[in-house]
Order: sequence, then structure tokens, then C-alpha cells
Amino acid sequence: MLDAKLTIALSKGRILEDTLPLLERVGIRPSEDPDASRKLVVGTNRPGVELVIVRATDVPTYVEFGAADVGVAGRDVLLEQGADLYEPLDLGIGKCRMVVAEPEGMAAGDDPSRWDRVRIATKYPNITRDFFARQGVQTQIVKLYGSMELAPLVGLADRIVDLVSSGRTLEENGLVEVETLFGISSRLVVNKAALKLKHPLVSDLIDSLAGVLEDKA
Ligand code: PRP
Repeated sequence: MLDAKLTIALSKGRILEDTLPLLERVGIRPSEDPDASRKLVVGTNRPGVELVIVRATDVPTYVEFGAADVGVAGRDVLLEQGADLYEPLDLGIGKCRMVVAEPEGMAAGDDPSRWDRVRIATKYPNITRDFFARQGVQTQIVKLYGSMELAPLVGLADRIVDLVSSGRTLEENGLVEVETLFGISSRLVVNKAALKLKHPLVSDLIDSLAGVLEDKA
């Protein structure tokens, strides 16, 4: 092992909340609460193991470039960015789904296979473009960074492609799901060089997390 340091990239919010109990089960505890603190590098009880706190969409970048050895990222972010990462484990957390939604009553019996030239607001232009291209539907994509559900209400787009978890945001904004693209959960991602150079530190973490997930199953 060339380097005994292990850096784990996490993002604040649901991923951090759901990942910390998993890390705790493999014996890694942050030395202070990363959610309460403004620190971006947080030590742990394990010498040489530290957490870096980054934006959810930046996790693949930190790991791909080796600034972090491992990280936790949603399948949505991974598919959108297509970073070159090893993805050994589905952590089964942060479950939701990627859907197409539209205003309720927009088209009774709407048939997605008959759509043509639709304007779609989304934070996921690559996923959206690929999905509609495979169906032979031409799209105009309006890239947004949040609050996608507003776009059809104010005439910015016909439909949206976005994440749905409880369905409450769609419902409270008068939108309905018309098609599911795929299910989502958060994955452990690993820098490909770290897997070799930091063996067995990285492989031990993967194996221990896999054991915890098996126990939970
Ligand atoms: C996500 C997503 C939806 C909402 C869905 O937004 O974009 O807006 O959660 O959750 P629900 O089905 O349980 O209502 P998030 O809170 O991550 O914020 P964002 O607008 O920045 O994407």
C-alpha cells in the first residue's frame, strides 16, 4: 500500500444522512457532525480516513480525478455525467425514480410513443436527450438547476424529467407522472487507480459495506 490515507466524498442532505449509519456499522465515525459543521474536510475515529463534503453533482468528479478515493452518488448523477468510475455497490439508499411528468389533464390518455417535438425542462439533459432519442421523439431541452415542477405551470416547458420520491412535489403542483425512465438509488463509487494502489484499504471498505448490506437484506 503506497498511501494509508482514505478520502470519502459525500454530499450534505439525504446522502450524508443515509451514508453515516452505514459507515458507523463498518467502524467509521466522523469526529464531528458534518451536517452541523461548515468544515469541508472532516476527520474520523480512524487515523487517515477522512470525509470531504462536496455538492452531490461534484462527487463523481472528485472521485474520477482521485481527489477522493471513494464516494457516494445517486444513479441519476452517475448516468447523467458518465464519469469513468468503478461502481461496486448499490447501497440501497436514496431511493427514488426518474420520471416524465406533465400537467394533470394536459392530454387525456396521453401516449408517449406519439409525442413529437416536445419541450422538456430538466436538470438531466443527457439522460433526457438519450431517452427521447431512443423513442424517436424530437425534444427541445430547457436546462434548469432546480424547481423543475414550476416550468410547465408558467409555460416554460410542456413536460419535465425529474426525480420523484414521495410524489408530493408533483401532486402539490398539479403534475402527474406519465412515464418512468428508471429507478434510482445511491451507489458507492471508487477511483479506479485507488482500487489498485490503496489495496487493501479500499477493498476492505467495499467488503465491509457489502457485509452490512447483506445483513440488512
Ligand atoms: C427533488 C426532486 C423533486 C423532489 C421530489 O428535489 O427534484 O423536486 O425532490 O420529491 P417528492 O416526490 O418526495 O416530493 P430536491 O429536494 O432534491 O431539490 P431540487 O429542486 O434542488 O432538485
